Amino acid sequence: MEFDVFSLLPEVFPPYLNSSILHRARQRGLIDVRIHNIRDWAADKHHVTDDEPYGGGGGMVMKVEPVFAAVESVLGPFGSGEDVPFGDDVDRTSTGSARRLTPSRCPAGRATPEACCPVILLTPQGRVFSQKIAMELVRHPRLALICGRYEGVDERIREHLVTDEISIGDYVLTGGELPALILIDAISRLIPGVLGDPDGAMDDSHATGLLEYPHYTRPPEYRGWGVPEILLSGDHAKIEKWRREQSLRRTFKRRLDLLESAPLSETDRKVLKEIQEEGEDS
Ligand code: 6GU
Repeated sequence: MEFDVFSLLPEVFPPYLNSSILHRARQRGLIDVRIHNIRDWAADKHHVTDDEPYGGGGGMVMKVEPVFAAVESVLGPFGSGEDVPFGDDVDRTSTGSARRLTPSRCPAGRATPEACCPVILLTPQGRVFSQKIAMELVRHPRLALICGRYEGVDERIREHLVTDEISIGDYVLTGGELPALILIDAISRLIPGVLGDPDGAMDDSHATGLLEYPHYTRPPEYRGWGVPEILLSGDHAKIEKWRREQSLRRTFKRRLDLLESAPLSETDRKVLKEIQEEGEDS
């Protein structure tokens, strides 16, 4: 999977990308992350990338030309590939709001939605990132990530360059660099081989729609605090059942909202009913 990141702060990326799992994934060629400094495409002699907003008011706005020049020189000029709309089969919203699906950049001859390279602007105004969106984005062989800075970006970048806008939550950061790293991290670990354990991403909180069960490792006793007996029993069927119940219990107590859309079996529903009744008794 290839990532092209466009930023005015390229120096913040290497420390994280050169650590641990992402470092190993890059060395193995499972991911390729290329960081591009938007300032390198600023045409004037001072390499200006921001300017005052038309209409006045505070703050600076990221200029349209350097961002277009950077993205087009890396992905190819707009319109050179085949522009195809994204498929209707994929839900591209997490908030329920409809969004424009085109233009998307698609190398000629690879005109399937998955083969397209979405151009994603990281902005607090985007759809809110989730495990579901990570699973959707990992289907693309390449992603372009534009890190917004300053108070905003010229609206023409949104209108004519970007195919998707993503936020990482309802709070405001100084720029899209940390959000871009978060996307790269969440998406990369879904690629087979990136995690040591082939099933590593399967039990994750959110992948199953539920929060994860509690984990323990040695020692079996610390300051008098033990480990649930069942985990030491070696009875794998019982352990699975216990873990599922713990996941349901946690999700019920902490994230009731997740239970509404989680895939639940008949047994799960029975267990949940019991958990609910326990709560009513106490
Ligand atoms: Cl993607 N950018 C900025 N600047 N702030 C954010 C964000 C993105 N997501 C949440 N807050």
